[in-house]
Amino acid sequence: MKILDAAATAAALPYPMVIDRMEALFLEGLKAPDRHHHTMPKPNETDATLLLMPAWSEDVGCVKVVTATPGNSVRGLPAIAGSVLVFDRETGAHLALLDGATLTARRTAAASALAIRHLAPENAGKLLLIGAGKVAAQIPDAFRAVRPVDTVRIWDIFPEAAKSLADELCARGWNAEPVPDLEHAVPEADIVSAATLATEPLLKGKWLREGQHVDLIGAFTPAMREADDLALQRSRIFVDTPFAAVEAGELKTPLQTGAITQDDIRGDLYEICKGEATREGDDEITLFKTVGNAIMDLAASITAVEEGMS
Ligand SMILES: NC(=O)c1ccc[n+]([C@@H]2O[C@H](COP(=O)([O-])OP(=O)(O)OC[C@H]3O[C@@H](n4cnc5c(N)ncnc54)[C@H](O)[C@@H]3O)[C@@H](O)[C@H]2O)c1
Repeated sequence: MKILDAAATAAALPYPMVIDRMEALFLEGLKAPDRHHHTMPKPNETDATLLLMPAWSEDVGCVKVVTATPGNSVRGLPAIAGSVLVFDRETGAHLALLDGATLTARRTAAASALAIRHLAPENAGKLLLIGAGKVAAQIPDAFRAVRPVDTVRIWDIFPEAAKSLADELCARGWNAEPVPDLEHAVPEADIVSAATLATEPLLKGKWLREGQHVDLIGAFTPAMREADDLALQRSRIFVDTPFAAVEAGELKTPLQTGAITQDDIRGDLYEICKGEATREGDDEITLFKTVGNAIMDLAASITAVEEGMS
């Protein structure tokens, strides 16, 4: 069994290949079991969470094991730790162990890129990132695989984090800069992508303009929100899977209050990839909400096995 560290996992996951593989799996209609979510009590600190995410195709299977340990902040360690075990479906033999954090950041950016391939205007070149964390750092490279992204602007609640990511992107050859406020930056962008831990909406619908694409990655609990009701109401809404409307406050809360209805959710990645759920015109605002699923992990795992194991 090969063991790929973070750098080797990243090298084994080129965006064009992960995105194409993911599209193929959604077109195939592949489904994954519900993810297991276990609370692990911790004496004298916040409980930890264990997530187990399995998925398999005819040839390859994978299980992602991720722990979230909030108490790690006082230990000076990241809250999230994880690995992905990849196995051969014919024999069950273990093929590889991949770095879970790297795979998750890259497959998440790839899933949003897959939606962009089908929903964003063809000439979308100006990208605004809301958030400057691990996932945000991956988004420009992923989106450039599907659209001619040429400028990246970054806003974060911690301005020094936006500056630091802009510097990192510039060092990688990007035209990138931090921006001080969202109100002015949002209307200038073609694609607005949020990957934060926000609990109050950061993105206001009144700032959006016709023809934009909005990508919402962060909120994954009912208590989290990245965009306000008006942003949802002004947009044609899509999800990665229907689970997004159950798990994330982004859709769950406005569905409960009646700000939007289930009919306002126009399709998921299965329908988007088949062309059954689409942008209806150049003037429309499209909005994609993702919470992630194991099919995305499998797409990355298959790519790593095919591309990164030589
Ligand atoms: N949809 C998916 O499949 C998927 C996959 C991975 C991560 N995520 C989610 O995306 C988000 C970002 O993940 P990451 O790994 O980049 O995390 P990270 O910790 O590296 O970055 C988090 C970012 O959010 C900002 N932030 C923190 N608190 C905030 C607040 N209260 N309001 C606004 N911004 C705040 C931070 O400054 C930072 O820029 C998380 O919510 C994570 O759970 C989603």
